[in-house]
Amino acid sequence: MTGSTAELVLDPYDYDFHEDPYPYYKRLRDEAPLYRNDDLNFWALTRHADVHRGFRNSTTLSNRLGVSLDPISRTPEAYRTMSFLAMDDPDHLRLRTLVSKGFTPRRIRELEPRVLELTHRHLDIALESESFDYIGEFAGQLPMDVISELVGVPAEDRQRLRTLADAVMHREDGVTDVPTSALAAAMDLLVYYADMVKQRRARPADDLTSALLEAEIDGDRLRDDEIMAFLFLMVVAGNETTTKLLGNALYWGGRNPDQLTGVHADHSRIPRWIEETLRYDTSSQILARLVAADVEFYGTTLHEGDTLLLVPGSAHRDERVFDSPDDFHIGRDIGSKLLSFGSGAHFCLGAHLARMEARVALTALFERIQGYQVDESGAVRVHSSNVRGFARLPITVRKA
Ligand code: HEM
Repeated sequence: MTGSTAELVLDPYDYDFHEDPYPYYKRLRDEAPLYRNDDLNFWALTRHADVHRGFRNSTTLSNRLGVSLDPISRTPEAYRTMSFLAMDDPDHLRLRTLVSKGFTPRRIRELEPRVLELTHRHLDIALESESFDYIGEFAGQLPMDVISELVGVPAEDRQRLRTLADAVMHREDGVTDVPTSALAAAMDLLVYYADMVKQRRARPADDLTSALLEAEIDGDRLRDDEIMAFLFLMVVAGNETTTKLLGNALYWGGRNPDQLTGVHADHSRIPRWIEETLRYDTSSQILARLVAADVEFYGTTLHEGDTLLLVPGSAHRDERVFDSPDDFHIGRDIGSKLLSFGSGAHFCLGAHLARMEARVALTALFERIQGYQVDESGAVRVHSSNVRGFARLPITVRKA
């Protein structure tokens, strides 16, 4: 049941695929549920049950080389910038448990009023005009500012950190290598965080960085380089993904205005809009795993050292699990079937933050506008091998 024919190709670097991957996924689920790409040297699982099982099998399927398909980032050094996301247990569990002592649900709850303030600050500027780029003016700015607020970056440095974070994630169209400008920005960001960790060690403050310095379990503490790697991971894992969630929500809401009528009438329905966006067009489409021991899928044995892609983007459109999966239907029953944040050992540590941030941001926006229209001709998608969403999304609003 494997397939690698010319017509049936999963190429995360292909432009047509980026525009609309869902027809490709459907064919893979039906015709090649274990897919092989010889050119790019990976296997892929696309059915919901397989992706779910893949996430939960963190012994045979390892995160040791990180979760990106890009060859340059698949190295045993990935943990230096991706912290415990690029580790297996027990190292992963040790760091995750220590970090969780500072990254608590309470800390995230207490952040909510600040997220609201930051949201309004960006909206004040964006809404000076009725037409603006929703990503450039709003969704592309808020998530990094929230991370900076959480970890304790002073207000005067945030603009610079946003620029660095954008540069870290920037990729040239059609090029799989990481540009030197991105490597230089990553270095600058690490140097900034190293300095901040040193300062907090000398003078603790009421922020996550200080809490991480204090975290302790039976005498075990986080080293400075471990804290820096975690701060960097939040930028990689929590910034672009949340920007794309905010953009995808607005885009699909705009494409399905009948579905938004109830949301405009009752803002308490916004979390359901967010959940359906996470299902319908999630920002984290593809996550890579390293096969750590021989394992069989659909009668084919994958060998130690192979690369296997788990494709939640496809799992969410699996008709074996969701009714009319290609319909955007706010309020549908999704429950525990959502795989946008992964599942099992590496389940997203920031899922509650991402959901809170999206709820606060979209609620504040809807309180200030009566409606909006997306200018699809001006929309520009990012071309990334694993993140799906917009680099530019021009909208016109009717203010409240
Ligand atoms: C819509 C927004 C987000 C999406 C779609 C998302 C998605 C994911 C996914 C799929 C994973 C699991 C990766 C795997 O199994 O290999 C993950 C892990 C992680 N995410 Fe998120 N994420 C989001 C927002 C955030 C935010 C806001 C933060 C924190 C600021 C964050 C921090 C993390 C961390 C630390 C991990 C690693 C967990 C581990 O390895 O144990 N994420 N995220």
